[in-house]
Amino acid sequence: MAAVPSIERAAHGVTSSAVLDFLKRPKNLLIGGKWVPAKSGKQFETINPANEEVLALVPEGDKADVDEAVKIARQAYEEGPWSRIGPHQRARYLLKIADLLEQHADELAILETLNNGMAISLARGMASGAADTFRYYAGWATKIYGETNPSDPSMFNYTLREPVGVCGQIIPWNGPIAMLAWKIAPALACGNVSILKPAEQTPLTALRIGELLQEVDLPPGVVNIITGFGETAGAAIAAHPDIDKVAFTGSTEVGKLILQASTGNLKRVSLELGGKSPNVIFPDADLENAIPTSLFGFCMLSGQVCCAGTRVFVQSDFHDRFVEHLTRYASNVKAGDPLDASTTVGPLVSREQFNRVKGYLDIGKKEGAKPALGGEARTGKGFFVDPTIFTDVRNNMQIAREEIFGPVASVIPFKDENDAVLQGNDTTYGLAAAVWTQDISRAHRIARALKAGTVWINCYNNIDPISPFGGYKQSGIGRELGKHSIELYTQIKSVYAKL
Ligand code: NAI
Ligand code: MG
Repeated sequence: MAAVPSIERAAHGVTSSAVLDFLKRPKNLLIGGKWVPAKSGKQFETINPANEEVLALVPEGDKADVDEAVKIARQAYEEGPWSRIGPHQRARYLLKIADLLEQHADELAILETLNNGMAISLARGMASGAADTFRYYAGWATKIYGETNPSDPSMFNYTLREPVGVCGQIIPWNGPIAMLAWKIAPALACGNVSILKPAEQTPLTALRIGELLQEVDLPPGVVNIITGFGETAGAAIAAHPDIDKVAFTGSTEVGKLILQASTGNLKRVSLELGGKSPNVIFPDADLENAIPTSLFGFCMLSGQVCCAGTRVFVQSDFHDRFVEHLTRYASNVKAGDPLDASTTVGPLVSREQFNRVKGYLDIGKKEGAKPALGGEARTGKGFFVDPTIFTDVRNNMQIAREEIFGPVASVIPFKDENDAVLQGNDTTYGLAAAVWTQDISRAHRIARALKAGTVWINCYNNIDPISPFGGYKQSGIGRELGKHSIELYTQIKSVYAKL
């Protein structure tokens, strides 16, 4: 049984007393610049997945609260001070938010670790990464260009790139601070307003960041935060006739529901969904890096990552040696107290996810896969699962086709380069992929051949706001980050003037 952290363990030092103070304060929804309870008066418990203790009660927003937020957000967008604010001023807001996120990075990281269970080292990285994302989009606010087009001499034609309007932004529980930044930063840079719904499992950092947003005096209604459940608050956002765009990160199943709900008013939709990413390893790989990085590839955030490298393809003649190395290395990594700086694998986020992963461990064994390491979920308090490595897996088994979202990898042999690409692409998903080889030509050939939104060569899980992220096939629609988020959050107007 892993050491169980408590809130008090986090109470050393000033920043963590800020966490305790926040946890004690009553939680409300942020609508129109005010903190208000859910109209229904309902609240729900949010827990610490490492010890299953209740951290706080948060408001259970639903359709009525979404309706109110949309009304106020629409007003802020059409008539409020935000509608008259220029790009320099928007950039200044984003820079101020970035500074605040950085100043509060330790506090936000502890809060995230308490609520999500991710290793504190990862949570710190996400908090400072969120600051980078805001800073990156602050730069874009003043660089959103239209075009002048080569029209007939009697006409002058140009395009304006304008905001989309009221944006509903539904984020998951696996990287709450990062996902909030990916959504809010580009939306605001382009002049939109946001209604953000954090996941019901991890509402706390969004509420704390909502308080920080108040400190930069963002005009009321520009960012609204509704905590609540997917089937109620989330569905109300997806179906709302006065929301112009929905950006969603989460399961492919819910992504499809959101797309269906968008047809009511044909709102713009961007979706960042699941994955079953291939991590292809050739015998000439630099093992010193390939072993720890491949483990990181499927164990970061306990494997609860859309781009996790859960299908590890290894050339047949190298398979046994690789499995031996990987298993030996991974056997030293146990799921543990996420507040401990040396922990890399914390608990899973919820009982639901724990049961789901446990179910897949059983399915894998029934399908004939052999756990070379792990294979059992822990008992006792907290949702801990140690790294599991399955061998004897075929690419058509359920554990190789479905997203498990736990620290579980399937090692699958391949014959040659062609076979690696064929098997790697034989999936309904296409979010990410990786290839390990010293042969530079082969690396780039495979990077081209794999159908995935991101390909890593001799590395894994590198994500930077400078570069697009999103999926081929059922891993999503659209690309976030880089200049691509600017495209998601703007629309183009063509203006003809008769001279
Ligand atoms: P989910 O897709 O249900 O939840 C993600 C977000 O969508 C949450 O904010 C939730 O409240 C909201 N949501 C749920 N139902 C909704 C609906 N009908 N309308 C609008 N919003 C809705 O994911 P869940 O159930 O937490 O996890 C199930 C599986 O989904 C995981 O095991 C994993 O395979 C996958 N997943 C993938 C993620 C990714 O990063 N691509 C993130 C989270 C889950
Ligand atoms: Mg769900």
